[in-house]
Amino acid sequence: MTKKLYIKTYGCQMNVYDSARMTDVLAPLGFVPADAPDGADIVILNTCHIREKAAEKVFSDLGRLRPLKDAKAEAGGDMILAVAGCVAQAEGAEILRRAPFVDIVLGPQTYHRLPEMVARAMRAAAAPGAGGTAGRGILDTEFPAETKFDHLPETASPQGVAAFLAVQEGCDKFCTFCVVPYTRGAEYSRPAADVIAEARHLVAAGAREITLLGQNVNAYHGDAPDGRGGSWGLGRLVRALAEIPGLDRLRYTTSHPRDVDDELIAAHRDVPALMPFLHLPVQSGSDRILEAMNRRHTADEYRRIIDRLRAARPDLALSSDFIVGFPGESDGDFQATLDLIDEIKFFAQAFSFKYSPRPGTPAALIDGQVAEEVKAERLATVQDLLAAQQRRFNEASIGRAVPVLFEKEGRHPGQLVGRTPHMQSVHAAAPVRLLGRTVPVRLLACGRNSIAGEVATLDDGDPGAVAEDRFCA
Ligand code: SAH
Ligand code: SF4
Ligand code: F3S
Repeated sequence: MTKKLYIKTYGCQMNVYDSARMTDVLAPLGFVPADAPDGADIVILNTCHIREKAAEKVFSDLGRLRPLKDAKAEAGGDMILAVAGCVAQAEGAEILRRAPFVDIVLGPQTYHRLPEMVARAMRAAAAPGAGGTAGRGILDTEFPAETKFDHLPETASPQGVAAFLAVQEGCDKFCTFCVVPYTRGAEYSRPAADVIAEARHLVAAGAREITLLGQNVNAYHGDAPDGRGGSWGLGRLVRALAEIPGLDRLRYTTSHPRDVDDELIAAHRDVPALMPFLHLPVQSGSDRILEAMNRRHTADEYRRIIDRLRAARPDLALSSDFIVGFPGESDGDFQATLDLIDEIKFFAQAFSFKYSPRPGTPAALIDGQVAEEVKAERLATVQDLLAAQQRRFNEASIGRAVPVLFEKEGRHPGQLVGRTPHMQSVHAAAPVRLLGRTVPVRLLACGRNSIAGEVATLDDGDPGAVAEDRFCA
């Protein structure tokens, strides 16, 4: 008998990948994915702890799930409620205290044990005198000696044309603002042979683009496949993956400036499948703040890395993360961030955040926390600048025909959506048979979230159709 599984994913791509793996690990128990939590047999919240807002969302969502669990119990059924991910890791016992109707709390390194936990929760529900809506209080936030990657089944759930593949997890960098080293644990790289096998599997299932994931993905140093005890860096891994027939595109995220090495820069020069787009967070343009953040590089070192990358791959588009209002950030420090953005041009996209003090991280204890209004003002300023750069970047591509990999059907009938090599989202009228194919698309006009395009000449000689709906201003 099939049972319904609903997973809500918050946070980064690693969580998206993990949610797919939790789906895989529960499939043998008869759980199939559902689109909504109503009536589900198990609901998993895969949570994010990176900023306070993200973490608090979990408790409001749990409040909304409780009546669904009660309703299921009243109808004689059972809904298992599980909290996974980084909030689970950071606040495990606190979750069970604040939300005692939660059944399972599990940290990111224990997903291979999920079937066992679910079986325990089901047995507890079936025991005489049990039932009702009380939680079953199962808590597993260990960092087990064995890695989850060695125990999870092969990826089985459909990953689509553009798939994620975790190659590295955890972080040893300890930036003073960040919870990740605590929630995900120490840096770990999967052996190259395992990564290659999973990539082949994804390609066989229809993936044409793979994004290699890690909290610090370019710190990758997995065992080399030859069994002689050496290790491979990310550049070497990218070269090997690019050889897989049918795999057209590779990307990786998130990388750290300190770990951009010669081999990786050379891969950007030599490997055409490695897309000319890089998300390389810098956080701040002020050396004083970078030091207080423990980023272990200066703004000039970041500039030099960008210069070298651009020399290797002149069409490289950049993305970054910025934090405003880090403790002690003066007007001058903030100006240095604006100057860096101005100078590096163009960020094809970028993410900026108000600093959020996180429990247990050193920066939360630094004197000189910046006032909320100042953070809000700086955020608005930096976002205006970044939005203007993104607009200019997109406008500069209007009129060009660029290769777009169609990933899925669009919101409107007859429309497909995909991405350019530079990660720009594009929609165009195109037949479904072009899904999973890279097709030249002429970019016509910028919309709010996506660029309207028309299929130029198809690679099989078909004339392209013209996009009817351009949703653009
Ligand atoms: N591993 C990546 C980032 C992971 S977290 C790296 O080293 O760059 C994603 C982004 O969230 C970070 O780049 C940072 O900009 C932001 N972030 C992390 N902790 C934060 C905090 N306490 N407050 C505000 N933003 C934060
Ligand atoms: Fe967090 Fe820094 Fe590690 Fe990135 S490198 S995950 S920001 S500690
Ligand atoms: Fe959030 Fe954890 Fe990812 S804190 S950003 S889900 S690593």
